[in-house]
Amino acid sequence: MDEVKKGLEGVVVDESRVCKVDGEEGKIWYAGYDMDDLARESSYEELLFLLRNDRLPSGDELDGIRDEMAARRALPDGVAELVDREAERTAPMDLLRTSVSALASYDDEADNLDDPTDKCLGVLAKMPTVIARAHRVREGEEPVEPRDDLGHAENFLYTLHGEEPTEEEASAMDSTFILYAEHGMNASTFSACVTASTLANVYSSLTSAVGTLQGRLHGGATETVIDMLEDVGDASNAEPFVEEKVSNKGKIPGFGHRVYETVDPRCAHFRRHIETLNPDSELLAVADAVREEVEARLGDKGIFPNTDLYAGALYRELGVPPAFYTTLFAASRAAGWSAHIAEQIEDNRIMRPRVKFVGETGRGYVPVDER
Ligand SMILES: CC(C)(COP(=O)(O)OP(=O)(O)OC[C@H]1O[C@@H](n2cnc3c(N)ncnc32)[C@H](O)[C@@H]1OP(=O)(O)O)[C@@H](O)C(=O)NCCC(=O)NCCS
Repeated sequence: MDEVKKGLEGVVVDESRVCKVDGEEGKIWYAGYDMDDLARESSYEELLFLLRNDRLPSGDELDGIRDEMAARRALPDGVAELVDREAERTAPMDLLRTSVSALASYDDEADNLDDPTDKCLGVLAKMPTVIARAHRVREGEEPVEPRDDLGHAENFLYTLHGEEPTEEEASAMDSTFILYAEHGMNASTFSACVTASTLANVYSSLTSAVGTLQGRLHGGATETVIDMLEDVGDASNAEPFVEEKVSNKGKIPGFGHRVYETVDPRCAHFRRHIETLNPDSELLAVADAVREEVEARLGDKGIFPNTDLYAGALYRELGVPPAFYTTLFAASRAAGWSAHIAEQIEDNRIMRPRVKFVGETGRGYVPVDER
């Protein structure tokens, strides 16, 4: 009864239809569909429809959700002003978290939980707008207003760089949104569900999730991986680098996972897009070399690459600065958060676990002037 499950390992908190992660085989299914097929064939908007309705859309329905997203991209003036004012001194994830929270002030029915997925859609349509705007302000450039004739990923790159991306860039960006969209009961999703289970509004649930994703053991790893690859510098340095880490029992960013006993299936998709955009990517060569060394030394311990090993190198090819990598993970994962928040609210019981008390009882209170 009082067995402690540190890190909640192996604890099953609820049932869900959103996503199955098979850590032994290295497979992911989004609402029953193979992630590999969706990453190659689908779009983020189609995935959103799927997670919202538990089925793929018709052509008209797909156009419908694209239009709906596009119509909800613009920021309320107050949030645009907040981003403009704070972007320079505030870390991008802090600013994204604050902006998601601030959006509640511009929804007269923020506390209405009748259609949580729809409310979340309004937030996730705006997250890339916040990110691109913050980047441009930090760079001293004029913000670029979103366009409603572009897809979600294409529009993001357009608002980030002020020019339309190539087809390959838009397709790679769209894949990153799909690949990071959902991953079962991870820390940030759990955080969203805990908040939703109190029947707080979706802005609070999404804000909790963004805050939880920030840490370097979760979404923040994308940034630390790039620092590591740059430190290694050249593929020929991978062997001594990994050797040193392993002998000091150091954790190598971009490797290891609570669920996977094999390679994270998303790695191959990030990797193939880097190869398409830049077959000569030096970062890719370094990442591959580090991977080879880690697999050789730690593979039998179940330590394999996780999705963050290649994500940063792909974001780099798309012109996204490292400080914004985790914000894009958040903007993508908002799809999964939304689906889990909706499931939580539909069949809710407040989350209330216990701790095993290991302190003292019966200590006598002594007034301060007698201590
Ligand atoms: C993802 C992560 C937090 C999972 O943590 P966890 O399930 O609690 O696993 P633990 O930290 O208990 O690690 C279990 C064992 O594997 C080792 N290990 C785990 N990740 C490792 C890594 N990245 N490099 C080297 N060794 C690692 C641990 O040292 C530990 O070894 P030990 O049993 O000899 O002490 C962890 O693997 C990690 O910190 N990875 C690096 C950060 C990262 O890439 N995060 C993004 C995840 S998507």
